Amino acid sequence: MASYNLLLLPGDGIGPEVVAEVEKLVSWMSKTGMAKFETEKGLVGGSAYDAHGKSISEDHMKLAHEADAVLFGAVGGPKWDAVPYDVRPEAGLLRLRKDLGLFANLRPAICYPALADASSLKRDIIDGLDILILRELTGGVYFGEPKEIVTLENGEKRAVDTQVYTTHEIERIGRVAFELARKRNNRVTSSEKRNVMKSGVLWNQVITDLHKREFQDVKLDHMLADALGMQLVRWPKQFDVIVTDNLFGDMLSDVAAMLTGSLGMLPSASLGEEDPATGKRKALYEPVHGSAPDIAGKSLANPIAMIGSLGMALRYSFGLLEAADLVEKAVSNVLAEGLRTKDIAEPGRNAVSTTEMGDAILKEIQTLAR
Ligand code: IPM
Ligand code: MN
Repeated sequence: MASYNLLLLPGDGIGPEVVAEVEKLVSWMSKTGMAKFETEKGLVGGSAYDAHGKSISEDHMKLAHEADAVLFGAVGGPKWDAVPYDVRPEAGLLRLRKDLGLFANLRPAICYPALADASSLKRDIIDGLDILILRELTGGVYFGEPKEIVTLENGEKRAVDTQVYTTHEIERIGRVAFELARKRNNRVTSSEKRNVMKSGVLWNQVITDLHKREFQDVKLDHMLADALGMQLVRWPKQFDVIVTDNLFGDMLSDVAAMLTGSLGMLPSASLGEEDPATGKRKALYEPVHGSAPDIAGKSLANPIAMIGSLGMALRYSFGLLEAADLVEKAVSNVLAEGLRTKDIAEPGRNAVSTTEMGDAILKEIQTLAR
């Protein structure tokens, strides 16, 4: 039986609580012989800072490099608001993305029928929604240099962030978008702000050229990022795959998450380039929600985004498609049965805890696997 090396990085806030639910699933899968998982655990974010003054240690970076996949919880919280910028909790996540070369961030937004009423939008707008936001993750304004705050001669300060993209960076994320679309509804919407940004002009050109050269069978549209934000809440079902840069992707995927009822529902996969020798790619899986310090430690968090992230790992890193389907089906069934954590419960209705939701999903998987 194939054996896989999983690194768990629970992080801060609700991270450890939702990762604990995934651990239950992983150990059950190992026990039943679906696949053999070797797991290790590391520190990232504020918890790493508390332990050794860095947002991730070199030892734990090494573990991440060696792992077949990383499962990441969440980082950050008010406790670390005052730590130096370079070692703030988010720096650990950004370093993982950059050093592992995880340029392709897949953020699917699927609206489960059972949850259509938990969205702030009307049911017919989001019922049956199934879109994929593909966010470029290692370039753009997140990493561009210069990135600094300088003091001018007159004593005033000046802050600079740099939005920068090369042809290669745009082309490789575009290629992932077209390939993913071919396995879905064959449509790509590329988004930038070419009306004000040079990087947007280049983005548009490179995607257009790539489409013409290699992917004419896929339908391509371009939409300015502000208009796309508006269209996402007006009629989101018009989209299939949306490909966009790091910053626009960050914002638009939060909007898309809320279409599905709660930020607690959205999983994500961050993938690197395929190694031609081994056919493997580095990968990190994380829920789109953050560390939610306000509800941390209370077993109120929704573990579904984290569990969905494990499902994506089974699918994209391990090729365990049946196991991935099983996880997704179990989540859907449990929701259809009416189980809700607080974030997706209708006002006045009973909500279950993080562990109760995790246990119910595991039980459903066991039933389905029989
Ligand atoms: C996300 C988060 C991160 C980001 C933060 C925690 C650095 O918001 O994954 O969307 O901005 O990319
Ligand atoms: Mn974000």
